[in-house]
Amino acid sequence: MHFTFQTLLPVLWLLVLCSSWIQGQKNEDSNEFLENSSELLDVESNSLAVPCPKKCTCSPEGIVDCGGFSLKEFPIDIPEMTNHLSLQNNQIEEIFPEELARLFRLETLNLQNNRLTSRGLPEEIFDQLENLNYLYLANNQLTVAPKLLPRSLISADFAANNLTKIYDLTFGQKPNLRSVYLHNNKLEDAGLPESMFNGSDNVEVLIMSSNFLKYVPKNLPRALYKLHLKNNKLEKIPKGAFSELSGLRELYLQNNKLTNEGMDNETFWKLSSLEYLDLSSNNLSHIPAGLPRNIVLLHLEKNAIKSIGADVLTQIKNLEYLLLHNNKLKARGIHQQAFQGLKKLHTVHLYNNQLEKIPSGLPRRVKTLMILHNQISEIGRNDFASTYFLEELNLSYNKITSSQIHREAFRKLRLLKSLDLSGNNLQTLPYGFPKNLQSLKLKVNEISSISKGTLSGMAKLQELYLSNNKLKSSSVYSNAWRDLTSLKTLDMAGNLLTSIPSDLPESLEYLYLQNNKITTVPEDAFASTPNIKGIYLRFNKIAFNAVKESTFHRLKHLQVLDIEGNFEFSDPLKNGSDEDMEEEEEEEEQEVEEN
Ligand SMILES: *[C@@H]1O[C@H](CO)[C@@H](O)[C@H](O)[C@H]1NC(C)=O
Ligand SMILES: *[C@@H]1O[C@H](CO)[C@@H](O)[C@H](O)[C@H]1NC(C)=O
Ligand SMILES: *[C@@H]1O[C@H](CO)[C@@H](O)[C@H](O)[C@H]1NC(C)=O
Ligand SMILES: *[C@@H]1O[C@H](CO)[C@@H](O)[C@H](O)[C@H]1NC(C)=O
Ligand SMILES: *[C@@H]1O[C@H](CO)[C@@H](O)[C@H](O)[C@H]1NC(C)=O
Ligand SMILES: *[C@@H]1O[C@H](CO)[C@@H](O)[C@H](O)[C@H]1NC(C)=O
Ligand SMILES: *[C@@H]1O[C@H](CO)[C@@H](O)[C@H](O)[C@H]1NC(C)=O
Repeated sequence: MHFTFQTLLPVLWLLVLCSSWIQGQKNEDSNEFLENSSELLDVESNSLAVPCPKKCTCSPEGIVDCGGFSLKEFPIDIPEMTNHLSLQNNQIEEIFPEELARLFRLETLNLQNNRLTSRGLPEEIFDQLENLNYLYLANNQLTVAPKLLPRSLISADFAANNLTKIYDLTFGQKPNLRSVYLHNNKLEDAGLPESMFNGSDNVEVLIMSSNFLKYVPKNLPRALYKLHLKNNKLEKIPKGAFSELSGLRELYLQNNKLTNEGMDNETFWKLSSLEYLDLSSNNLSHIPAGLPRNIVLLHLEKNAIKSIGADVLTQIKNLEYLLLHNNKLKARGIHQQAFQGLKKLHTVHLYNNQLEKIPSGLPRRVKTLMILHNQISEIGRNDFASTYFLEELNLSYNKITSSQIHREAFRKLRLLKSLDLSGNNLQTLPYGFPKNLQSLKLKVNEISSISKGTLSGMAKLQELYLSNNKLKSSSVYSNAWRDLTSLKTLDMAGNLLTSIPSDLPESLEYLYLQNNKITTVPEDAFASTPNIKGIYLRFNKIAFNAVKESTFHRLKHLQVLDIEGNFEFSDPLKNGSDEDMEEEEEEEEQEVEEN
């Protein structure tokens, strides 16, 4: 049976009224349970003569809310007919058995965020609460779980306590139990009974993240669809631990100490419904064999993976997202056929590895390829010859030089929209960019010139980032922007420009030219860009009398004109050392020569 939100809707509504189950979900791994739900109950509060403890709100339906009043003690006069009792966000340390025993009709008991210790919780009472479905005890100070909880239980939340021990009948023998929250406790393997869920075959959600487990617990309930075990000390997944969990869809194992020795080729194989597997931040040196075919999202980042074999991924026919960043992959460690037949695989993260070149045999349907922060120095003619569907390619922070990019390397990338080559060793703008690019980033290189033809035909380009390069006004081809009829953003900040680029496209909206050596702003500098919204000229060398107000008059859309940090250069008495002045004179001479 599958647990869906539709089937649970009526239950959910009830819970919204009297507790904060939803919030418990939302905050799965956090300790905040501060919501104040008493407003939700105001509707009926003053309507009739239901006896009600001071400050609390009570409804004729048996809902009593005493949440958030800093109560130090369990209220003595709670009506016996109460079905749903909320005492969350108080300071209760202790509950006496007789206080709770009266309330045998309780279906929901919310004691979340109090100061209950195990000694202060009368566990012998629980087997008398024969109707109890929902028990919320998160954010208390319990050190051992109650020995026996009612058989009627549906959901139990013990997150964020200091639990070290669970007993056979804490969660065992509860045929209706669906969800158990135990994250943020201090559970070690020895604190769990051999068969923690014996007779509780319908548990679907088990959250045990942030404990101290070394082994995956044995005898997990077969109905599980969500199992969270992240932030433990898992070293080993015992043989068969997952072999009965054919309904499991979401398995979190990240941030543990798993190695390949701690699992085998059958560990995951029977998880035929698994869609989401997170093995990130472990100590895997290769991808485990025998991953099941329905995984959609596979997290393997932050391990020590060095290679990808021919047949570890190919059976995962539904794989869409493969995250392998922050590993130790080299291109030659990735088998040519590693991604073969993965027709749904559209997003691959390979950043922060040790790739020395583009791996061969990239998945054919990849749309997003993140391959930044590697050691790639060249792009060969056929590296992207079969990735026709690529839309976003991030190659930033590698070691690519202009001459090592083959002129035809990108010829097949007709769908490529975004290319990032920032932080490489490009000296000139390379030839052969895909014509349909919308965004091209070339920041932080050593580009000193833009030659004729490099930007030709790129009529869809909307953003061009060339900041922090070595561009000079004289080395930008004079018709460079001619074809860029969609260009909205041009960023040339942090270069060596001495004048404002001319013949900018009419579509331009934002022009970034800060930190250059521009000295003048001619009156017609923006004549070709009537749509411009932002002009950034901060920290150039423009003299006060070198800018006329009329230059900007006709720019109806102009919102930002940032020209700070310029004018002091016109006044030798203000800051600026002698050196600065000399430099400025040189620049001015150069400009004259260029003109
Ligand atoms: C909870 O809600 C009540 C009624 O709206 C309000 O008086 C009280 O200040 C709230 N408490 C907190 C902690 O927000
Ligand atoms: C859990 O135990 C630690 C000491 O081991 C203590 O500092 C902490 O306050 C305890 N937390 C709770 C919720 O009782
Ligand atoms: C599991 O429960 C059954 C009764 O439902 C009992 O016979 C069996 O001994 C229990 N097994 C364990 C390991 O506790
Ligand atoms: C696991 O490996 C063993 C021996 O190497 C092999 O017999 C078995 O078929 C493999 N299982 C899977 C699921 O690949
Ligand atoms: C990872 O595993 C290797 C052996 O496979 C071991 O030498 C190393 O200490 C482990 N690293 C961590 C952080 O556990
Ligand atoms: C490429 O990666 C860098 C670094 O994370 C990031 O800043 C940049 O936005 C990415 N480029 C694109 C086009 O997403
Ligand atoms: C220039 O001098 C002014 C005061 O004369 C000072 O406030 C400003 O910080 C100085 N700027 C620089 C860049 O040194």
